[in-house]
Amino acid sequence: DKQRNVAVLPGDGIGPEITEEGVKVMKQTGEQFGYRFHLDFGLVGGSAVDRLKTPLPEETLRICREADAILLGAVGGPAWDRNPPPLRPEKALLGLRKELGLYANLRPAKLFPGLAQSSTLKEEVLKGVDLLVVRELTGGIYFGEKHTEETKAGAKATDTLVYHEHEIERIVRRAFEWARERGKKVTSVDKANILESSRLWRKVAGRVAGDYPDVKLEHMLVDNCAMQIIRRPAEFDVIVTENMFGDILSDEAAILTGSIGMLPSASIGEGNRGLYEPVHGSAPDIAGQGVANPVATILSVAMMFRHSFQDDEAARAIEEAVTRVLDRGARTMDVAAPGHLALSTEEFGDRVVEELKKHQPDP
Ligand code: NAD
Ligand code: IPM
Ligand code: MN
Repeated sequence: DKQRNVAVLPGDGIGPEITEEGVKVMKQTGEQFGYRFHLDFGLVGGSAVDRLKTPLPEETLRICREADAILLGAVGGPAWDRNPPPLRPEKALLGLRKELGLYANLRPAKLFPGLAQSSTLKEEVLKGVDLLVVRELTGGIYFGEKHTEETKAGAKATDTLVYHEHEIERIVRRAFEWARERGKKVTSVDKANILESSRLWRKVAGRVAGDYPDVKLEHMLVDNCAMQIIRRPAEFDVIVTENMFGDILSDEAAILTGSIGMLPSASIGEGNRGLYEPVHGSAPDIAGQGVANPVATILSVAMMFRHSFQDDEAARAIEEAVTRVLDRGARTMDVAAPGHLALSTEEFGDRVVEELKKHQPDP
């Protein structure tokens, strides 16, 4: 029996708009592949701060713990930017990731046919782009000790970047496992010429590589990597890196796909439970207009079927539906070029649902 509990956390800004399309696609896929979904909606981020004075309410954490998978929109926005740290929307994401042990963040950047012309990069540079950023998600500078103090010479602010060997080992190992299923190449990205934590990272990556003789390992410094991602992006397969480098490099990689509105993500730990969310944020500049690109969220739902429900066929059905909608020239504003039909968030989602309905099950 394919009964699944899914926690849905729409969040702030465009979060509710894109989440609605994600849920629509999830329900349609469920219907076609025989799932029975129980959905629990929860408050998160700024909207939770406004209602309950905390970005991550206990009740939200509870429904996430009880869920097989979590779908999240986005959090944050100018209304809360000056809040003290415990009342910042972004704190909810860090809390969820840490509490649920979701240390591995997968961010695939794949170029859909026809979208190269929507990117600011040249079409010939983008040919064959299909990379996966594997970002460490529960350690590093995001979670190290931090404080601000007043000194005689003015204010002083400190953040610390800490990695334990076991944290590096488990994420690198997963990167190698995924590389095995893909292009058999891992680029481990660090700043080993400067940072102690990076030197440990490089050492551990080198040792883990010994267990995967069929996968090629290369080390790359993060500044060079930022450059190579736009110089020769098709040469990357799996990029594994620490928390903050992964955050930055994945937004950069989004441009290889045409728009940040195209990039999905999955955050997973040891079990099947995962948190699925677009890589982008709450996009306050376009919130409430119904024009946000829902593809990142819809592809995150595909990742949910693949990783949490172990259903590759359903995941592929969603990805193929998105491909067909794009093939017909349908685009949201962020990727539309002259000659394209610019659709609203909702219209795009409806088209994906229509395409899904045409899916023929695998024989
Ligand atoms: P952002 O990703 O929200 O927006 C950057 C730019 O990309 C904006 O011009 C926006 O309009 C555009 N964009 C983003 N998503 C889009 C989509 N689906 N379709 C079309 N265009 C899209 O980044 P930002 O402006 O730096 O951050 C805004 C807020 O979001 C901040 O409060 C930040 O902390 C938060 N944030 C949250 C998450 C998350 O919830 N996972 C991720 C990143 C940023
Ligand atoms: C992301 C976001 C978050 C991060 C912020 C909002 C905490 O940028 O998911 O990429 O930095 O991890
Ligand atoms: Mn980010």
